[in-house]
Amino acid sequence: MEIFYHFLQKMGYDHPVHPPITHIPIGLIVAVFIFGCLSLIVRRELLPAPAYRRINILALLFLMPTILLGYMDWMYFYRGTWSFPVTVKFVLSGIFLILLIIAIILNGKNETHSGKAVMVYGLCVIAVTGLGYYGGELVFMGTEKEHPLSESLSIGEKVYAKSCAPCHPGLKGVAGTKPLSDFDSFLSFMRDPRKPDGSPLPMPAFSADKLQDCDVIALFRYINVEGRRVASRGARPALPAGPLKP
Ligand code: HEC
Repeated sequence: MEIFYHFLQKMGYDHPVHPPITHIPIGLIVAVFIFGCLSLIVRRELLPAPAYRRINILALLFLMPTILLGYMDWMYFYRGTWSFPVTVKFVLSGIFLILLIIAIILNGKNETHSGKAVMVYGLCVIAVTGLGYYGGELVFMGTEKEHPLSESLSIGEKVYAKSCAPCHPGLKGVAGTKPLSDFDSFLSFMRDPRKPDGSPLPMPAFSADKLQDCDVIALFRYINVEGRRVASRGARPALPAGPLKP
């Protein structure tokens, strides 16, 4: 999976891959719904009956890679961290999958623009709208205040516990130091740890294969917020707002 994303990054594509492909199944089911509704209203087939089934099957075929890529993005960009939007997306994509299969079965029984069939298409559209909405929640996480930051804090906490805590328990020697004053100096410090005078430090370097930029961002936020909390002895931290990207 890492190889796949590194390959994309080499090609100049460093975004999640799930969002672009979502438009295919969404577009297909929305088209089916609109034609179904209109046919119901004018009481005439606006789309040849077999077309509904074919479009629904196409939507189902594209839904599979869409779900798979969504899962991969979640593992890669969010480190498989559970959050409310992620749970909703899992549930809704399951519902969408079942509804689509029901629609295809109905189409097979020659129900293409009956009230029942159109209701199923409508429920599909509601499901994809919900999926889109909560996808947006995930994407804009980190550009909002409290809740989004808490996500990157929990990722940062995990990374810290694994990579830093063995040598820096309780943020010792980390919080409040010069490299933490801004993100760029923190990132270059992680990649090549040096003392302020340029001489090397007895600390291992964390290259991009060991610690990706997105993890360094989460780490940076975690250390700064947690460091402030420790400094003010347990008082609630003042949460810095601002985008997740440096
Ligand atoms: C194998 C041990 C080791 C690991 C793992 C390690 N460090 Fe260090 N780190 C050190 C040593 C040694 C120093 C320098 C001596 C000191 O802190 O007193 C240091 C210093 C630092 C400093 C202070 C630099 C300065 O200018 O004062 C920061 C910040 C830092 N480490 C961050 C991290 C972070 C973040 C991680 C995890 C990604 C990490 N370190 C993992 C050993 C380690």
